[in-house]
Amino acid sequence: MPTVFITGANRGLGLEFSRQYANDGWEVIASCRNPEAAQELKSLQGNVKVCQMDITDQKQIKKVSLEYRNHAIDVLINNAAEHGPYDNSASFGDIDANEWLKVFLSNSISPLKVAEAFLENVKRSAQKKIAFISSRAGSISERGKLPHHQHGGSYIYRSSKAALNAATQSLAFDLEPQKICVIVLHPGFVRTGMSEDDAELDASISIAGMRKLISESTPKDNGLFRTYEGELISW
Ligand SMILES: NC(=O)c1ccc[n+]([C@@H]2O[C@H](COP(=O)([O-])OP(=O)(O)OC[C@H]3O[C@@H](n4cnc5c(N)ncnc54)[C@H](OP(=O)(O)O)[C@@H]3O)[C@@H](O)[C@H]2O)c1
Repeated sequence: MPTVFITGANRGLGLEFSRQYANDGWEVIASCRNPEAAQELKSLQGNVKVCQMDITDQKQIKKVSLEYRNHAIDVLINNAAEHGPYDNSASFGDIDANEWLKVFLSNSISPLKVAEAFLENVKRSAQKKIAFISSRAGSISERGKLPHHQHGGSYIYRSSKAALNAATQSLAFDLEPQKICVIVLHPGFVRTGMSEDDAELDASISIAGMRKLISESTPKDNGLFRTYEGELISW
């Protein structure tokens, strides 16, 4: 069976990715910061291997990549991210530079470091896919067009996802000649720990949609930014 590697697998969308791939019989390598506390992840049925990996910790990434160095990874899902502050420290006038750097490390730099670390595993697999869970909030050209994007603010999270998008675009160009898919997805506004109370979408629907897109993707799709339903988002 194919193998999927997921970051931030202990809760929210990462947990639902793990559940659905495991239910389908995939081997799931489910990484998270604190496996000891990941009770729901550890109780999933199926071939689920839980490992500790804080994506901002190069030593932990190295340790896991060594452990799995001869293992093919069909789909690498860079899911883990943090929102950063919701208060004025994310708004112009009082931006907290240290928080901004921290969120950039988690959301923009670390997913690329994870992709670097596991690229050889992806190359030796049958499917050869790297997915990045971004956010429509990172689209620069859509700013102001969507009802919930009309206000400014959220400088930290939005810019971190815009930077992720820019980096994944470069990666999409670099890896296409090697027939590796680079997939950038917006999961929708889903009820998880990160979303606000009014998020309506259930994680199971978002994940089913993203899994379908991942399974149908080919390297010809590199460079696209899509919602879980396949709608194109302009960068
Ligand atoms: N929910 C939405 O409406 C929505 C919308 C657009 C985009 N997204 C994106 O979807 C992805 C998943 O978000 P979610 O809604 O599932 O959020 P969530 O419920 O807050 O879960 C975030 C996950 O990321 C993990 N994480 C954060 N920093 C990490 C690090 N340094 N190393 C390893 N794991 C780390 C968390 O682990 P801990 O438990 O250890 O904190 C947690 O497992 C994110 O990329 C997010 O930006 C979500």
